[in-house]
Amino acid sequence: MDFKGDNVVISNIKLERLLSMKGGKGENSYANNSQAQAIHARSMLHLLEETLDRVQLMTSPEVPFVVVDLGCSSGNNTIYIVDVIIKHITKRFEALGIEPPEFSAFFSDLPSNDFNTLFQLLPPLAAHGSGSMEECLAADHHRSYFAAGVPGSFYRRLFPARSVNVFHSAFSLHWLSQVPEAVMDKRSPAYNKGRVFIHGASEITANAYKKRFQADLASFLRSRSPEMKRTGSMFLVCLGRTSVDPADQGGAGLLFGTHFQDAWDDLVQEGLISSEKRDSFNIPVYAPSLQDFKEVVEADGSFAIDKLEVFKGGSPLVVSEPDDAAEVGRALATSCRSVAGVLVDAHIGDRLSEKLFLQVERRATSHAKELLEQLQFFHIVASLSFA
Ligand SMILES: C[S@@+](CC[C@H](N)C(=O)[O-])C[C@H]1O[C@@H](n2cnc3c(N)ncnc32)[C@H](O)[C@@H]1O
Repeated sequence: MDFKGDNVVISNIKLERLLSMKGGKGENSYANNSQAQAIHARSMLHLLEETLDRVQLMTSPEVPFVVVDLGCSSGNNTIYIVDVIIKHITKRFEALGIEPPEFSAFFSDLPSNDFNTLFQLLPPLAAHGSGSMEECLAADHHRSYFAAGVPGSFYRRLFPARSVNVFHSAFSLHWLSQVPEAVMDKRSPAYNKGRVFIHGASEITANAYKKRFQADLASFLRSRSPEMKRTGSMFLVCLGRTSVDPADQGGAGLLFGTHFQDAWDDLVQEGLISSEKRDSFNIPVYAPSLQDFKEVVEADGSFAIDKLEVFKGGSPLVVSEPDDAAEVGRALATSCRSVAGVLVDAHIGDRLSEKLFLQVERRATSHAKELLEQLQFFHIVASLSFA
């Protein structure tokens, strides 16, 4: 029996020191399992570009023009998006007949994010004086911006006042700063007994998650509003849901509330972990409704809502042979593991975590057809600027 992880309590204080997507470039890494996010991001590019068109450009460009990706993780998605943003803004400057300024891109995530892998994936900086930055990028896959990593929680201040032109964040804001305390407290009526996620939980548990999400989003907006330039814009995408009921988490519910949940129950039934051990694990994710999101932006009052909608993103499963049940099962398990594996490892240790994800794979394989039919992600897309 492997006890590694038994002493690592995923307490609320530790979550932001611990949370990360699976680092590196291996089979279970986020870098290798984020094609679905890449596809969903590409399908929303027109909305991102609308946001970028709202950024006011200075006729004598301030130097540098600053772009920030919050919750960048490690992998090519963040590099791709930053590139899209900078190319689009460059084109807008050129269309106005203004020489584009220098660009700074800040890649920001929690301290345990694998920034090393991300930095290794960054293309080299284009040489100055050898044609326009855009020509360099197109020609030899160079980047046209200075890059830096910024470790820290986006629920607090990260940048100096009035220093950022464009904030971008994709598929990150549904991660809570902590599991709600009441959900972890055995004496509380909101204790999430028997479950590892909010999906299908009692109303009181679901409301505790909703309250946490709204308090976190309020902290996020409070932190960004002094940081963004008056002329800037912000583009936010996070998992969302279409149901009004917070205990119906839609795609996130299917991902963490069915086969993943059943796999935890398998470990309990096999006597490998106690039911208390299972019950003290909760996925700190909340997929908000449009209304949940809107209420917070309006209550904060610093930002005008230029766009706020629920966007159908599609399936998180990317498979080459949809009829191959084993491939579908593997895709679900690796997708789940690349985002939640680090938390599971810390809670029950590597060996039991391996077993748990094998169970997820086995169960998902036997429900492959319905998973492909039913697993859909919806996203909340918000474009905000100063009123
Ligand atoms: C699913 S990944 C999204 C990665 C990337 N944006 C993409 O489009 O592929 C979510 C990221 O949000 C980060 N994250 C979660 N909570 C955070 C917080 N409080 N502050 C900063 N980053 C956070 C996680 O560490 C993770 O890297």
